[in-house]
Order: sequence, then structure tokens, then C-alpha cells
Amino acid sequence: MSQSPVERSRSPFNPGYGRQPLVFGGHEQEIDELTRVFSTLDFGENHSILIAGLRGAGKTSMLTLLQNAATDAGWLVISDDASSGLMDRVMETTIPALLNGLDPATKARLTSVGLWKFSASWEYQDRHREVKPLLRNDLVALSRAIDNRGILITIDEVSSGRVRLRELAKFALQVSHALTDGANIMIAFAGIRIDLDELLKQEHATFLRRSRDLTFERLDPHATMAVLRDTAAVGGRQISPEALRRLAEIAQGYPYLIQLVGDYAWRARSDAPTIEIEDAEVAFEKAIKAVMSRVISKVYLDLSDKDREFVKAMTLALVDGRAKMSRIVALMGESDQYVQVYKRRLIDTGYVQRAGHGFVSFTLPYLDQYIRSLVYDDPRDDRRPADSWADFPAPQL
Ligand SMILES: Nc1ncnc2c1ncn2[C@@H]1O[C@H](COP(=O)(O)OP(=O)(O)O)[C@@H](O)[C@H]1O
Ligand SMILES: [Mg+2]
Repeated sequence: MSQSPVERSRSPFNPGYGRQPLVFGGHEQEIDELTRVFSTLDFGENHSILIAGLRGAGKTSMLTLLQNAATDAGWLVISDDASSGLMDRVMETTIPALLNGLDPATKARLTSVGLWKFSASWEYQDRHREVKPLLRNDLVALSRAIDNRGILITIDEVSSGRVRLRELAKFALQVSHALTDGANIMIAFAGIRIDLDELLKQEHATFLRRSRDLTFERLDPHATMAVLRDTAAVGGRQISPEALRRLAEIAQGYPYLIQLVGDYAWRARSDAPTIEIEDAEVAFEKAIKAVMSRVISKVYLDLSDKDREFVKAMTLALVDGRAKMSRIVALMGESDQYVQVYKRRLIDTGYVQRAGHGFVSFTLPYLDQYIRSLVYDDPRDDRRPADSWADFPAPQL
């Protein structure tokens, strides 16, 4: 006979891209400043926001947080990603859906603007064909109809690719015209630093060059432990001080990894009242394995071939967590100037940081170990299952 099933509590950790954390760590000041705009409409420099960071740094989560705060404050929210067809999607799908959500009185006011047709029961029907459809006009009309409360536009996954960036820049230009016409709009873009930089270089993107710039890197130890502790607490469990420290050491402030390691530690013994050091140790290996395959490997794939050469040389040159530039230059067999260009690029992108004069280090935990596993086919790597056919060689023909 089996025992009655143990009451297992659900993990409150939420690992995965775009999965909103239950407790959002760090960035307090920026969140405070940006969300205040939703109630005061005092924008300052916060009309356009760029959120730059590597995968797993929390960009999408931040956009979601802003969307929720804006909605709570009565703003309209338009959210999309930067894939091609953005303008059409927003004008043909997103805005009509927003229109349908407005109250009849507001819709009635909108009919006089002459942009959209509504049915007798105030359902959105179509655009008026006589008008040349421009996002600018849509935004201004929407803004007026809601008494200028405000519209938040979030565009996630900005990535280079000429057509897409040109389209994005055109989108931004329409938004800037709407701002000039008096609409209260905040627009936020999220992506990897070099891609956002490329966006700013576009012909029509002048307005974005005055954007508020947020860089998402790692959380500090204090914020990391707060996320772990408070998330567990919401789920009804505690973390022993020893385990908390260990989990923070493992996560290294990397948001995705914080959720992963917290989740595995929770699941190790989800019926116990406290997460102990043993649970942290169980979580360690699993979390690292998962972060390598789901995050770090993809971060590595985002690099160009030359960037990869640099980070490989850098990995080989690492001593006590930092690499000497002259050693990287020697390993790459290129000129000093040439290598400096790549170093600067990688620093700008957020992969690499300066670590004392003539030295660099990785910003991301475990990237060096991932690269090492690619560079060396490490025979001591015990994560690989032993070849069970090793003792049964195929006969020679
Ligand atoms: N500030 C944060 N505090 C705690 N966890 C976070 C934070 N930001 C993101 N996360 C978690 O990290 C993971 C990746 O977040 P996501 O927003 O998708 O990153 P990105 O869009 O930068 O790739 C998710 O599991 C999310 O819950
Ligand atoms: Mg994302």
C-alpha cells in the first residue's frame, strides 16, 4: 500500500524566456521613475527607452512589468516584437483590438475623426479608405479619444537585418510625429546592444538618439538573494542562510539562472519547509546544465565568427578569471589594432568587460566554461555518457 500522497507545493520560480518573475529584482530606481510617468504624464527624458542586454538578462520581463503598470494607470498598451510587418500588424490588428476595448462613448467620439468605421453595435469594422493610413494619425486620434491618458508602445526582440531595422526606424518616425502632434506616448525597445546601436544609425531614427538608455546586466548579490528569498517566501517556504548564499553564488546575479537554480532547489524536496544547502547542491548541476543549453549556447550563437575567435582566444588566455590582451592578440595571430576593434565591440555588446589595465574578463558567468567545452573535447567531461560500445570494436574489413 502506498502512503497518502505528500502535499507538494508548486514552485513559485519561473524559469523561461519571457516568463514574468514573481519577484522582480533590481532596477528599482528606473522602475520607479518610469512607472511614475504613467500617473504624472511628466515624461522628462522618458519618451523613448532602450533596454539593452544579453539573453536572459530580463528585458522582456521589464517590458511586461511596464505594460502592467501602464494598464493599471489607465494607459493603452501596444506591444509587439520587431519582426517584419510590424506597422501593418499594429495598424490592422492591434489598434482595432484596442478600439474594440474602448467604451461606446469613446468610440462615438472616434467616428468623428474619420479614421475608422464602427458597426451599429460599436464593433470595429474597417478603416475609412479615403484616408491615407498613417500610424501617426492613428496614435493621435487614439490619444485624444482617451483624453491624452497615454499610450505605451513596447517593441521586443529588436535585431539587425536591414529591412527590419529600416521598418522599425519608420515606425519610430511615425511615433515621433505623433509626439509632436501632442500625443502622450512612451515607446520602449528591447534588444542586444549592437542591434539597438544599429537601429539608432538608421536614417529616420534621429528621435531615438535621445532615448533613455537602460543596460541590463547582472543583479548584485543583495538583489539576487532578495529574489531567491522573497520568491520562496511567496511560495510558503524559507531558505536557510547557508543555502541562500550558495544559490546566489551559483546564479551569479544572472536573472534566468536565478529562476532556474531557485526552481531546482525548490523541487529537490518540495514538501520540506526549508530549502537547505543539500537542495542547493542538487540544484547546482541541473541549473548549470540547463542554463548552458537554454541560454549560454544561444548567447554564444549571437556572436559573429570573428567575435567567436576573440572569445575563444580569451578563454584560452584566462588566468584567475581574466585574460591579458597581449596574450589574446598573440593567440589570434592578428594585429593589435584589429584585435582592439573586436574587444571594443564585445565590450559595447556587453559580453566582455575591462578588468584592469590590459586585461578583460567575461561579464556572463559560465560563458568561458561553455566555450572551453567547445574548444577542447574534454575527455574528463563526465556529463557525457560513457560509450558502451568501447569494449566491442567493430571488426576490420
Ligand atoms: N529582474 C528580475 N528578477 C528576477 N528574475 C528575473 C528578472 N528579470 C528576468 N527574470 C527571469 O529571467 C528569465 C529571463 O527573463 P527574460 O525577461 O525573458 O529575459 P530576456 O528577455 O532579456 O532574454 C525569466 O525566467 C524571468 O522570470
Ligand atoms: Mg526577451
